[in-house]
Amino acid sequence: MIDFIKKMPKAELHLHIEGSLEPLMMFELAKKNNVKLPYKNLEEVKNAYEFTNLQSFLDIYYAGANVLITKEDFFDLTWAYIIKCKEDNIIHTEIFFDPQTHTSRKIEFKTVILGIKEALDKAYTEFGITSNIIMCFLRHLTQEDALKTLNQSLEFKDLIIGVGLDSSELGNPPSKFKEVFKKAKKEGFKIVAHAGEEADVSYIYEAIDILEVQRIDHGVQSINSKELMDLLKESQMPLTVCPFSNIELKVFKDMSEHNIKLMLDYGINVTVNSDDPSYFKGYLNDNFISLYKNLDLNKEDIIKLAKNSISSSFISDELKNNYLEKINKFILE
Ligand code: HPA
Ligand code: ZN
Repeated sequence: MIDFIKKMPKAELHLHIEGSLEPLMMFELAKKNNVKLPYKNLEEVKNAYEFTNLQSFLDIYYAGANVLITKEDFFDLTWAYIIKCKEDNIIHTEIFFDPQTHTSRKIEFKTVILGIKEALDKAYTEFGITSNIIMCFLRHLTQEDALKTLNQSLEFKDLIIGVGLDSSELGNPPSKFKEVFKKAKKEGFKIVAHAGEEADVSYIYEAIDILEVQRIDHGVQSINSKELMDLLKESQMPLTVCPFSNIELKVFKDMSEHNIKLMLDYGINVTVNSDDPSYFKGYLNDNFISLYKNLDLNKEDIIKLAKNSISSSFISDELKNNYLEKINKFILE
């Protein structure tokens, strides 16, 4: 079964590229770019990656991102993740990036997006891996700042499929960003948002009703409302669930208590994702394998989760059918 999981063709729909920065690359880039890190060695980094909640992670995650300066740095970061995609049989990936984390440090928007894009183009030419880029607004900042970022992005509209919402959830509900998402939608961007990772179901309702999202990122708190569970089931609204993230950020005590299998069995359109794999100690296949071991997932569950990842992506129907066929062929091998 583990071999089956590893080789299964799959898509990843919730991956923060800044969260794939491995400690070794962090040290190398810090040295090259003359950026001071709060760690003396890799051991200290490992010790620092012990989180109590989302905010305790974000503080460390933003500090790590400071080492990213040049277009080549963003290329190297993204390329390292693509190598992991290849290893995990990820055939399509939708990558988040946080422009404000970089523009606030005077790194130009174009430096970031062009570095990421170059690596994704290479992923396609070398491995046939397809991808989309989603730009996330930092919800701890103002809507005005998000609007400024949206305006900056318009020059690169062809490279960005959608907009999302991430960072500190509690106290920053989706409704805070109503206007910027309205504008993004008008510009033709797809809409997603982190909701119900730590905050209650009202944030998920707001993401659906006010931001008009096409996917919910995380959404694990849905389990607290039967009404919402029924709505998600009926609408087949995708949830991009990130099991390792939920354990590391103490949303669940341990993997055996994770609710993804309950939601899957209920008929909700859940997918498995790695979120910030360098910080949460595992890439996509590690997440799948841990779910398999702790929640007794069966072969049908694995197939369904992989198919959900393809059908919930922002690729054309034609490519979806092609990829779903790939999965069907793999199952029969
Ligand atoms: N939640 C919110 N913001 C984030 C996350 C997350 O899981 N990862 C990176 N930024
Ligand atoms: Zn996330």
